[in-house]
Formats: sequence, C-alpha cells, structure tokens
Amino acid sequence: MKTLFSGVQPSGIPTIGNYIGAYKQFTELQDQYDSYFCIVDQHAVTVPQDRLKLRENIRKLAAIYLASGLNPEKITLFIQSEVAAHAKAAWMLQCVGYVGEFERMTQYKDKSRKQSTKDGISLGLLTYPALMASDILIYGSDIVPVGDDQGQHLELTRNLAERFNNKYNDIFTVPEVKHPEVGGRIMSLNDPTKKMSKSDDNQKSFISLLDEPRLAAKKIRSAVTDSDSEVKYDKENKPGISNLLTIYSSLTDESIPSLEKKYDGENYGTFKGDLAGVVETFLTEFQEKVNYYLESDELDEILDRGRDNASRKADKMVAKMERAMGLGRKR
Ligand code: TYM
Repeated sequence: MKTLFSGVQPSGIPTIGNYIGAYKQFTELQDQYDSYFCIVDQHAVTVPQDRLKLRENIRKLAAIYLASGLNPEKITLFIQSEVAAHAKAAWMLQCVGYVGEFERMTQYKDKSRKQSTKDGISLGLLTYPALMASDILIYGSDIVPVGDDQGQHLELTRNLAERFNNKYNDIFTVPEVKHPEVGGRIMSLNDPTKKMSKSDDNQKSFISLLDEPRLAAKKIRSAVTDSDSEVKYDKENKPGISNLLTIYSSLTDESIPSLEKKYDGENYGTFKGDLAGVVETFLTEFQEKVNYYLESDELDEILDRGRDNASRKADKMVAKMERAMGLGRKR
C-alpha cells in the first residue's frame, strides 16, 4: 500500500478553507493509502505563539482532524514535536538545502515582511520548508494532499529528496503533490482576491471551523460579492461569487454548473441565504463531533498510538539518512 502524509499547523483554529483544501481530501483518500496526519506544532512556533493557547489549539486540532471523518482505527494521527525524527531529519535536509532556494519561497517572503516590523525574522521561518520536507520524506510518502498554497514547498521537498538521493544514497521516495479539483484556494470573504487565512486580523474575512454557526452564516450573508447580480462562476471578473460557489459546491458535493443552473434567474440574496444555511448546518454537525472527541479519553489514546506508530516508521528512515551521511558509529 502506498503512503500518504499531510500536516496542518495549530497556529489558530482552522478555517473552512483548510477544511475544503485539506481535510476533505484526507477523508476521501484515507482508505487508499497508509495515511499519516500530523499536527505540525514545531512549524507553528516559527512565528510567536502564546504557549497556553498553542497547547489548547493542538488538542482542538486533533479533534478537528477526527471530526472531519478520519477513521482512527486505520490512520495514524500524531503531534510533530512528539516524534523526534522530524527535527533530526530536518537538520540533515537543511545541510543539503541552499539558502537561496529557501529565500525564494513566497510564504517566507510574505511572513517575513509581517514579522520584520516587530522583533526581526526568526531563522525557523526561513528553514521551515526543510522541516516540512522532513515530515514528508521520513515516512517514504508517495502522495501529499494539500491546498494550492503549499505547491512551492512541495516542489522544494522534491528537489531536496532528489539531491539527497544523488549525493548520498537513493533512499527517498520523491512524493507527488495532490491538490483538490475544486477548492484548492478558498478566498477571503471580504476581499476575494486574497486567500482565506486563519491568521487574518479581520474576523469577517474567514469562517473558523469552531465559529458559532449562526455567526458564520452571518459572515456568508455579508460576504463581498460582485457588481452585477448573476450567480455565475467567473474567477477573473466575479471573484466573490465564484468563491462562494466553490464553497457551496465543496460542502454539498453539488457541481458548480449544477448550482449555476439552480440559481439561474435568482439574485445574490437568495443564493447567499441558502449557502448561509448550508454552512450553518455543516458547522453545527461538525462541532458536535469535535466536542465528542474533546470530551472523550479516546483522543489521548489515539495520539499516543499515533506517536508510537509514527516513531517506529520515521526512526528507520532517520537511521538510513545518518548511515548515508556517515553520522555516528557503525551499527
Ligand atoms: P496550513 O496549516 O497553513 O494549512 C493546512 C492545509 O490547508 C490548506 N489551506 C487552504 N486550502 C484552501 N484554501 C485556503 N484558503 C487554504 N488555506 C490553507 C493548506 O494548503 C494545507 O494543505 N506548511 C503547511 C503545513 C505542513 C505540511 C507538512 C503540509 C507542514 N508539514 C507536510 C503537508 C505536508 C501549512 O502551513 O499548512
């Protein structure tokens, strides 16, 4: 069976964009692969975090993964910092990476622009993609389902894998990226030319998976739309309504052309009202599952088991990497 890996940062509560771009794919793919899902807390600390809030978000993120429909009997769900192999492998991969290729990452450029106004830019923000590559490569992953914004990091992962294989020993599988067919980039509700992001200062621009469902419905009703009134997908000229159509289609599995037909002749108000209802129902049911996991002892058992499974597999790859590079003693 081939291997799948993906990760989400506990740097806040995931949005409906994260759900559509990532979690929904995870659930659809979990049966076809030996699947590893990671709460990447070491990535979260590349920017400042409140320690208590981070702890809380890690737990909530575990419950959110499961509420999305992952089967804990089949998949491995774990916390990155509890598996030492990630940081060990990241160091070795940093040593095959070049500063220039890390500086070219657009996410680094965006985030460092924001951070530099405060205390300077953390080095971790620059080396972040080596940790991400290590997450993926130490499980011998064949496929990595992610939203569109992670494409560049995946390309770097592939380059690092190939470089290591050529330079030392051919031990890594070069992974394929998988973006969703619809919804790889859900946009902000108040500025549909910008990506929806959980760290946006404007709360109205995103829907958090733990938003009060009625409040979320309100955010949909007040989302920015375009100047005419036709419910039609046209990303260039009608980014607002196209984004809402994408959200609608992803949450209901009804295709965009079929939604266009359904709302032919209807105004934006009717369409947005219906989508608000879809989002409210989705979140209500989703949050019931999140609360179930948050309150059960099962959650810690799943994470303990996940840590042990993940460590067993990842330690073997780290040993191979060390052997290939000549680190330590002969064993
Ligand atoms: P993160 O935590 O920012 O996002 C988690 C997942 O959600 C996707 N995503 C979106 N999809 C659609 N529309 C959006 N507006 C949107 N915003 C985010 C992301 O593409 C991602 O799939 N570096 C990663 C975490 C990571 C990782 C990994 C992923 C660390 N190691 C190894 C895969 C494999 C990140 O910051 O994702």
